[in-house]
Amino acid sequence: MSLTQRFWLVLTAVLVVTVLVLATLGDRLSGVRTPSPASTTTPDGLVRGAPGMGDPYLPEAGGGGYDVQHYDVTVDATLLARELRGSATVTAVARQDLDEFHLDLLLRVGRVSVNGVPARFTQSRDDLAITATRTDPGRPAIASGAAFTVAVDYEGSPEGASLPGTPAYYRTGEDFLIAGEPRAASLWFPVNDHPRDAATMRFAVRVPRGVEAICAGRLTGRGPDPDHPGADRWVWQVDAPTVSYATFLAVGQYRVEQGRTDGRPFVYSVSTRLTAAEQTRALRWLRKTPAAIRKLETHLGPYPFSGMGGFVPSAELNWGGLEVAMNPVYDPRAVGTESLLNHELAHMWFGDTVTLAEWNDMFNNESLTSYAEWLVTTGSSPAVNFDEYYFGSARSDRFWRPALSDPGLNELFVRVYDRGPTVVHALRNRMGDSTFFPFFRSWAQQHGPRSLEDFRRAADEATPEDLTGFFAEWLDQTDRPEPTAENGVPKR
Ligand code: ARG
Ligand code: ZN
Repeated sequence: MSLTQRFWLVLTAVLVVTVLVLATLGDRLSGVRTPSPASTTTPDGLVRGAPGMGDPYLPEAGGGGYDVQHYDVTVDATLLARELRGSATVTAVARQDLDEFHLDLLLRVGRVSVNGVPARFTQSRDDLAITATRTDPGRPAIASGAAFTVAVDYEGSPEGASLPGTPAYYRTGEDFLIAGEPRAASLWFPVNDHPRDAATMRFAVRVPRGVEAICAGRLTGRGPDPDHPGADRWVWQVDAPTVSYATFLAVGQYRVEQGRTDGRPFVYSVSTRLTAAEQTRALRWLRKTPAAIRKLETHLGPYPFSGMGGFVPSAELNWGGLEVAMNPVYDPRAVGTESLLNHELAHMWFGDTVTLAEWNDMFNNESLTSYAEWLVTTGSSPAVNFDEYYFGSARSDRFWRPALSDPGLNELFVRVYDRGPTVVHALRNRMGDSTFFPFFRSWAQQHGPRSLEDFRRAADEATPEDLTGFFAEWLDQTDRPEPTAENGVPKR
């Protein structure tokens, strides 16, 4: 290579690196990111939203260029062979000009309209691409900033439909349940299936008379279906914006207990496939929900939803619990575990209303939730837990890996439950209680998508000290932070 060639090569490399660094910095500095990946205008002149949210772990999930405000979902579950027939109206606001945009849905779509006008669509696996019809050929169908509605009619069986990740469909006899994290919603309704796009929701489910339909939210209607004599209809509403994985659909035989306490309605549902004794035990345990919420409120501030509940199916689940909005789902084998009840209820703040910006921000969900669980669970002592993990796992490589700031999809749900709250306790030690508790509470009250960088920044701003090194040690490294006061490790 000649000297001139080498010069140009080096200059190009420097330029490329500079551009990359600036791009990353820009992203970091812009606060709450709405990084709907760039839209494209194709030779046909149509403006297209990104086919996914561009999440580092699940790039294809969801779609870019719009924010959903509300899902209104009607599902008919009276068909044979557990097929579902649905019609959903998605209300959204465009964040850019749009002709084409993407939702997620695994069932067969029959008809789509945008603002009441029939639209073209194509489906491939879980992706539903919609091309709205232009009313003025010279302008994109949807202008940036405009509100629009998408109506989708669809049907099919969610049973065989496969989403990447842990199975989210459970069947027991004629009963079925769809629930899971990171994804499950697109097994039964068209959705921007990514936590950055929270929305309010209404679910109306038609079932054969005498069958129950349980969903996320508050039960706002149950009884004969006004449109279908012989069938029942169950209506559930989530009235504070929440994330798509905090939803579920269960159709089957359930014992449903409703009432009102602490000024809020509650609904507890337990499968009648459990033995009578198990049902009684499950209900007794679920009835501790209001007291748990009261306790959590002392640390986290006002409960974010208008109703509360809990749901115990008969199916053995792939996790102990799931923080479905207002109505957590619990594995029947976990009934009676106080820490789990506290955990799922703490998620009503951390995860369901203070939401993830991206899946790699999972620390914000599980570590803060687990710490709230440590704070309120009978007999649990955060300081003792800290010692057990920090000193007890001193020699365990598995405990200190992977980095909490980038656990990867396969280990998303591992160390956040033990090393995660250990970090939060170290942060509390470092901050002191008089700084930590107000900070913790104010974080729990700031609804909307929040990244882990946002969390670090907020903590840093809450203290006069610089916490950059503290967080680098605890979140970015894969070995045990040194037992120093800077790292929040008390002398012993
Ligand atoms: N978010 C749930 C909880 O901790 C756990 C979900 C686990 N999901 C999974 N794929 N392992 O309350
Ligand atoms: Zn959790």
